[in-house]
Amino acid sequence: MAPSTSSAITLNINGEKYTLSVDHRTTLLDALRERLDLTGSKKGCDQGQCGACTVLLDGRRAVSCLQFAVAAEGREITTIEGVAEGDRLHPVQQAFLDLDGYQCGYCTPGQICSAVAVIGEHAAGWPSAVTDDVRPEAGPPPLTADEIRERMSGNLCRCGAYVSIVQAIERAAATASETEEAVA
Ligand code: FES
Ligand code: FES
Repeated sequence: MAPSTSSAITLNINGEKYTLSVDHRTTLLDALRERLDLTGSKKGCDQGQCGACTVLLDGRRAVSCLQFAVAAEGREITTIEGVAEGDRLHPVQQAFLDLDGYQCGYCTPGQICSAVAVIGEHAAGWPSAVTDDVRPEAGPPPLTADEIRERMSGNLCRCGAYVSIVQAIERAAATASETEEAVA
């Protein structure tokens, strides 16, 4: 008997469980879009180069076009549909709205998912390729425009309209840090 090429999996997406049978070669992006009707994540290049399909896996960003759906079982998957809390926009979404960072429907979902993770990565002290002092004791580098550009460099806009996005991420990061201070 030929080995089975599909499996039943359960994906945990935006806090809900979805059980489906998928061919083992199905990408997470195709499972989201074609099987589960979660079409916020976009297919730009389908080869890991544009960031339009970015989602969060256990809070870390991943390009869902390079992730097999079967390998995402057991992970907490957050798509653009799950970034807001009900009617309350995520601070990144609000800042994109306030500062005109929203762009086309193709690149914006990935930009926002990436930006959410960038703020978390930066707050956790992760350096980037443009961080001058990468010693752990140096702590997080200032989240400068250069840091934001580098950290967001995996998300392409074919139109090159990035200026407002940088400003929006600066605003959202400041909001997140103020909220943390208020809670502490
Ligand atoms: S569609 Fe996944 S990176 Fe472009
Ligand atoms: S505005 Fe979306 S690709 Fe440029």
